Amino acid sequence: MVSSLTDRDGRHISYLRVSVTDRCDMRCVYCMSENMRFLPREDVLSFEELLRLSRVFIRQGVRRLRITGGEPLVRRDIGEFFTELGQWLHHSDQQGMLDELTLTTNGTLLADYAELLYKAGVRRVNVSLDTLDDVRFRQITRRGHLATTLNGIRAARAAGLAVRINTVAMAGVNDDEFDALLSWCGEIGADLCLIETMPMGETGEDRTASYLPLSRVQEQLRTRWSLTPLSDRTGGPARYMRVEKTGQRIGFITPMSHNFCSSCNRVRLSCTGRLYTCLGQEDGIDLREIMRSGGDDAAILTGIEEAISRKPTGHTFLLDEKMGRVSGPARHMSVTGG
Ligand code: GTP
Ligand code: 5AD
Ligand code: SF4
Repeated sequence: MVSSLTDRDGRHISYLRVSVTDRCDMRCVYCMSENMRFLPREDVLSFEELLRLSRVFIRQGVRRLRITGGEPLVRRDIGEFFTELGQWLHHSDQQGMLDELTLTTNGTLLADYAELLYKAGVRRVNVSLDTLDDVRFRQITRRGHLATTLNGIRAARAAGLAVRINTVAMAGVNDDEFDALLSWCGEIGADLCLIETMPMGETGEDRTASYLPLSRVQEQLRTRWSLTPLSDRTGGPARYMRVEKTGQRIGFITPMSHNFCSSCNRVRLSCTGRLYTCLGQEDGIDLREIMRSGGDDAAILTGIEEAISRKPTGHTFLLDEKMGRVSGPARHMSVTGG
């Protein structure tokens, strides 16, 4: 079924990112400020409410769900939530409503959840990892422990999950580590995805100084690695290449240098039920308000359709290295988990 959710630029929305919490056990420098204030629990949707909203999207043709945060695995009873969602997936004996259920995680709690996730029907996970150096890891995440994250990643592989490592590429921070990360990903059988920093929310860090256009990185990597462009897309922003030496893939997400907005297939639900139709814009609609004031599924759908009909043509992120100018939405990346 083609999604019936279509915006005014003719883009079909078939992918929903659902944030289940704004909390996280880390404070990555490009994502959060050191002193984040988190939402009161009553503002956050219950799992029943999240399931209800997700079901409305799925009935309209959304085929992929990615669970995000903050850090999704810090939410209590998250295992049961995945198990519930997993029942909507295709099974060998029956036609399901969902093609894919995935999550993006920082890996801290992955060792505890990897097997449960696999049983629920998750087949691939994206794990944030910007460095293989202990001290740097601490500096970037301000809280995390490298060994715990690596342990989580190994547990995910052992449970049968495909892993993509997400690395935010930062000049002067981790730009000397991409070769090491590529080799390490080859060893553990994971893909690597490099991401350009996007200026979202105040983090207390200067993001113009660390902005690194990935076209430059790709050129440099190609002098040392044989990389073959691939046409496969996971329906997302990453452009992939095969790393001939390891057999794994390297992906590049380049919202700043080459945006991919014209093929955008997605919308995002925050943990308070606000539907954002673009990562790089504030435009959206409050679905919690509709739901908690007694609106039925038809009213929710009307809200969703209205918001999608206004989906912006593209983001308006700006990082001007020379002028030192930055602009992007005031909300933090952790509101919608990217
Ligand atoms: P797929 O499900 O494979 O498409 O994964 P993904 O790359 O969308 O998911 P992930 O959560 O791993 O996000 C990786 C990076 O891509 C994060 O920095 C996200 O913020 C960014 N990203 C994902 N979707 C979009 C998008 O629509 N626009 C922009 N600008 N960035 C996005
Ligand atoms: N710019 C780009 N990527 C970011 N992420 C978090 N904040 C930013 C940012 N400002 C990435 C994390 C995680 C994913 C959800 O988003 O690395 O993997
Ligand atoms: Fe937490 Fe992920 Fe944000 Fe880092 S990027 S602070 S791990 S939500």
